[in-house]
Amino acid sequence: MINKPYIINFPKIGSDITGFISVCEKQNLPFHAERIYWTYHVPNESERGAHAHLNLEQILLVLSGEIIVKIELLNGETYEFNLNKPDIGLYIPKMSWRTLTYFGNAVQVCLASMEYDENDYIRNYDEFRKHMDC
Ligand code: TYD
Repeated sequence: MINKPYIINFPKIGSDITGFISVCEKQNLPFHAERIYWTYHVPNESERGAHAHLNLEQILLVLSGEIIVKIELLNGETYEFNLNKPDIGLYIPKMSWRTLTYFGNAVQVCLASMEYDENDYIRNYDEFRKHMDC
């Protein structure tokens, strides 16, 4: 069965006067986060990603700015998400080819289900497509 990407809405606590807090607790996440990393100072309109993961699941948060995430699954389905609110996250299942385009000095935080392992990456699109036949 192929898992699909989806938006997670986190609680947004506060008001326009005080500002806001959002929070995610482990019982509300689809996996146990083993790693957190973040990206920043990415030039406007430049692209990151362009890879898939054999086993890694992720939740992307865009705390400021905006990131357009394009995802292709092994069944050929494609998705596009416009992440520009700090109280939402994007769940990305394993075997998702993704490209991220950054706007407005975007700051992205990622909750990852596994520790970093370069062997878990598929960085070649043709190799990703070959998995469609498996
Ligand atoms: P990469 O995952 O390709 O970044 P992006 O998807 O944002 O384009 O990682 C970029 C570089 O950083 C690559 O050389 C691997 C390294 N890296 C780590 O060493 N540890 C990590 O946890 C991550 C996410 C990346």
